[in-house]
Amino acid sequence: MKVAIVGASGGIGQPLSLLMKLDPLVTELSLYDVRSAPGVAQDLSHISTNSVCQGFEKEEIAKALQGAHVVIVPAGVPRKPGMTRDDLFKINASIVKGIVTSMGQYAPQARLLIISNPVNSTVPIAVETLKSMGKLQPGNVMGVTTLDCVRAETFLAEYLGRDKSECNKDVSVIGGHSGNTIVPVLLNSTLREKLKPYYQEFVHRVQFGGDEVVKAKAGAGSATLSMAFAGYRFANSILRSLSGEKVSGVPTFVYLSGINGGPEVKSKLGNVEYFSLPVFLSNGTVSKVDLSILSSLSSQEKELVKDSVRQLASNIEKGKKFALGAK
Ligand code: NAI
Repeated sequence: MKVAIVGASGGIGQPLSLLMKLDPLVTELSLYDVRSAPGVAQDLSHISTNSVCQGFEKEEIAKALQGAHVVIVPAGVPRKPGMTRDDLFKINASIVKGIVTSMGQYAPQARLLIISNPVNSTVPIAVETLKSMGKLQPGNVMGVTTLDCVRAETFLAEYLGRDKSECNKDVSVIGGHSGNTIVPVLLNSTLREKLKPYYQEFVHRVQFGGDEVVKAKAGAGSATLSMAFAGYRFANSILRSLSGEKVSGVPTFVYLSGINGGPEVKSKLGNVEYFSLPVFLSNGTVSKVDLSILSSLSSQEKELVKDSVRQLASNIEKGKKFALGAK
């Protein structure tokens, strides 16, 4: 399968490209960036895994995207201390719109995985852009929220002294991908009891874990290595699904209209248009959102969902307006 990474020379792009080079499901790895991608590709091409790796830059985006089954987008600027993800909108909105327009032209069938922030707005930008080109397949556009899940698993394991690699069965994350829109959900009532003394702190760390990294990097950017791991984990689910495996329970931020179960989520949550929920994947596409998680929420989680929906509405509207206005 051909995987294209757009923004491949960046802090996330490089380690993510490395991880994709190691994935045996990838036969062709296509790296694109406005700078330096041929060098990154040349470097990776000496690794003794069977995939072919090529780099493209500047005006070569068509070549990079053509024939791609999966396009992963970590292009754009990251946060500096004191910035929210929403502060990135001005620059990243146009970058994402430009890339998605190219994708609509050269790889309209590809599964599109958006990492560029603010995800709560860049996914609506992608959807509206593809819609206006007549190329939208709602199940193919996915906002990558996996880093929130990875953090929730790590922090939960640390609070409770559990095995980190097992914690993906204990916690999921729904909502959006910034601050209060992020809602960790515990999947087991015994754990809820055990986590009680640390619950507020746990929720805060999952919602604002990105700030810990931004602060520690002191101006040198935001999470890159943990994001590369998370991006790889998500992309690998898509590739496994594309190769025929049944994959479910993977949360991603999606456009609810046009996806099975989406309209029910919309009416249940007060007409929100986009939301991250665990999904069922079929042939690498979101075939259905898994509503069941919404019926098992605790009263605290329900309150967090209400806050998330409130804030998401304005993030989504901002993305939609940009995409429609800047046509
Ligand atoms: P970076 O600045 O290190 O890399 C970004 C790369 O994008 C650069 O190589 C740049 O040349 C490239 N780029 C810029 N415009 C482009 C265009 N039009 N086409 C192709 N490439 C282009 O930034 P970093 O740290 O890799 O972060 C990238 C994005 O990912 C940021 O928006 C950041 O906020 C976001 N992010 C998302 C996370 C998530 O959980 N979804 C987590 C962490 C970061």
